[in-house]
Amino acid sequence: DEAAEQAAFDAIIEADSRIEPRDWMPAAYRKTLIRQISQHAHSEIIGMQPEGNWISRAPSLKRKAILMAKVQDEAGHGLYLYSAAQTLGITRDEMTEQLIEGRAKYSSIFNYPTPTWADMGAIGWLVDGAAICNQVPLCRASYGPYGRAMVRICKEESFHQRQGFEILLTLMQGSAAQREMAQDAVDRWYWPSLMMFGPPDEASPNSAQSMAWNIKRFSNDDLRQRFIGMLVPQAEVLGVTLPDPELRWDEEAQRWHTSEIDWTELQEVIAGRGAMNAERTRNRRTAHEDGAWVREAAAEYARKQQLRETG
Ligand code: ACO
Repeated sequence: DEAAEQAAFDAIIEADSRIEPRDWMPAAYRKTLIRQISQHAHSEIIGMQPEGNWISRAPSLKRKAILMAKVQDEAGHGLYLYSAAQTLGITRDEMTEQLIEGRAKYSSIFNYPTPTWADMGAIGWLVDGAAICNQVPLCRASYGPYGRAMVRICKEESFHQRQGFEILLTLMQGSAAQREMAQDAVDRWYWPSLMMFGPPDEASPNSAQSMAWNIKRFSNDDLRQRFIGMLVPQAEVLGVTLPDPELRWDEEAQRWHTSEIDWTELQEVIAGRGAMNAERTRNRRTAHEDGAWVREAAAEYARKQQLRETG
């Protein structure tokens, strides 16, 4: 009965062990995982656009090959994550519909424009850096398929972060104009990358329950702090300035002291009113519609193969 199933579920969580697709789970646990994993998958797929924008304009053949591989990795991450979400009972079609109709959330960060080549460096360094900080603890998420997908994703993300750092380092060792371009990109991506971790803890409705279920392991603010601590020494190596005059280590509080983050901006972007929201969703919808013939052809091919096999 349900009480026994709930007790079995609670014992697995208590033991910090894993829930697998066939196990009983509370409806709210299933729902929050579908919410988070599908949003995460959508972020990877929408996240192909800001960088896809630069593939044809990368400054050398080598840079082009690296960027293309990186964008392909993001497509792969989206697919692992859609597969993990599907084990919870939602279909790929439902998730796709939610995304192209603008009903699904995806990370705020992908709604900012990428006007210069240095943006590819800043995205790798800051956006993928933030993604790693957030996602390494998710490798231990209590839901098995999600945690296992995160292990592979994190390995690839750390390569992405290094390649971004290296783009910025190359620019910072270049001409004055290149250094200026790198600093400008860091100025534009720094605050949005801090916002990726979500609203402050006191305004994060899902955190407490997700932490009790061992889905999230750290709060939004704790991860944001950890990320700043990772950036400060790396900014020094790069020779870029993090655009916050208030930024300093507060010895007494044992925390980084920062200027107030513009939470209104985060709310606006999440609500669909960021610079690029409409274009990102429109591009995805167009790509989905343009790909209809591929899906039809594949389905028809599969049907014929099966007919041949069953004779
Ligand atoms: N962009 C868009 N939406 C956000 C963001 C953000 N940066 N931060 C929070 N939100 C949304 C949440 O999805 C939630 O909305 P919902 O309840 O309608 O689903 C709402 O704001 C309130 O936030 P929280 O209660 O803090 O939500 P949650 O506990 O889910 O924490 C977080 C948000 C940290 C993003 C979490 O969902 C998470 O870790 N997700 C997995 C990682 C991920 O999605 N990364 C994507 C970007 S990285 C990349 O793809 C390269």
